[in-house]
Amino acid sequence: MEQHKLMIPGPVDLTPEVLKETGRPPMGHRTPDFDEILTQCWEDLKYVYQTKNDVILITASGTAAMDAAVASTIEEGDEFVCIGSGKFGERFSLIVKSYGGIAKDVPVEWGKTFDVDAVEKVVAKSNAKAITLTHNETSTGVVHDAESIGKIAKEHDCLFILDAITSLGGDEVKTDAWGVDICTGGSQKCLAAPAGLSTVAVSEKAWEVIESNHTKNYYLNLASYRKSLKKNTTPFTPSVNLIYGLSMALKQIREEGLENRIKRHRTLARATRAAARAMNLELFADPGAASNTVTSIKNPEGFTDDGLRGEVKRKFNILMAGGQEHVKGKIFRIGHMGNVRQPELESVISALETVLHDGGHDLEKGAGLAAAREVFKETG
Ligand SMILES: Cc1ncc(COP(=O)(O)O)c(C=O)c1O
Repeated sequence: MEQHKLMIPGPVDLTPEVLKETGRPPMGHRTPDFDEILTQCWEDLKYVYQTKNDVILITASGTAAMDAAVASTIEEGDEFVCIGSGKFGERFSLIVKSYGGIAKDVPVEWGKTFDVDAVEKVVAKSNAKAITLTHNETSTGVVHDAESIGKIAKEHDCLFILDAITSLGGDEVKTDAWGVDICTGGSQKCLAAPAGLSTVAVSEKAWEVIESNHTKNYYLNLASYRKSLKKNTTPFTPSVNLIYGLSMALKQIREEGLENRIKRHRTLARATRAAARAMNLELFADPGAASNTVTSIKNPEGFTDDGLRGEVKRKFNILMAGGQEHVKGKIFRIGHMGNVRQPELESVISALETVLHDGGHDLEKGAGLAAAREVFKETG
């Protein structure tokens, strides 16, 4: 089996310590020792979420956290304003409809961010119970201004549900300061833990709605997670080994410090964009709202997805992500999240330069690497 360097927006490469911890012999999940590990994870997650709210851990991928957020707050016929920023923003709308809710969609052109006034108008015209937003839209490489949506939600007294799955632990997620009521995360992204866990931070305002709601979902009913949380446990059997891995990943985040970690991700993003421009490539995301954890780049003329991404994978063992939905084959995405540092970024840039050069793309070989290095030098 081939092992590729993962330069995709999750799952990400894990540190040896996280891998070792994940492989430890399992322990009983109803024991004081395990309760202690869980409680520490919740505390560490509050640090990453910048919140005093409760944080729930679910044994399932990020979409389960999105599902739980909607299922636990929605009643049939409720209106949710869903900002359709890309594949993941649109997913919220699908979840709302699946529970019999009415999704008031605010479409956003892929690669761009939303117009605050347009969102405000839709919220003002509807009887919105909640507004949903994807903070870091992985499918387009755009980071959205969550703070402005928090203000709208407060003005209109509705819940603010934020998907921070690919920003939590890599970019600024100010859950409390931005007024986020339900904020979702995923283990396999910037948190740099194994895939299979998701996290949900829930405000008091959201708990009031959740606890009076006739929830349609059993396993993902956040109210039952809260009941167990009070007893330092989980309602169902959690993935003990994944939680071992997550606890080590969170310890490593504490050691690095959240501020340093965010700075590192921002530097990586700047270096990636500088390298792309120097390689004569066109960025897909609006430069004013480009993500700090994933960079989307247009496929240059004359290159198929296989001719570019495929060659980088075959020749250099590096995996980048392709485009999704209608931009499939038109863009590729470099994930620079989790444990990525300068050496990993330089490897993918030089691999790209070689494949582009050999394929006849007009570029000065070495210019991409030099541009990235300049950014690293400037930021120290
Ligand atoms: C922004 C965003 N939201 C939600 C998801 C869905 O997460 P999962 O695949 O872990 O269910 C992803 C996955 O890539 C994502 O990038």
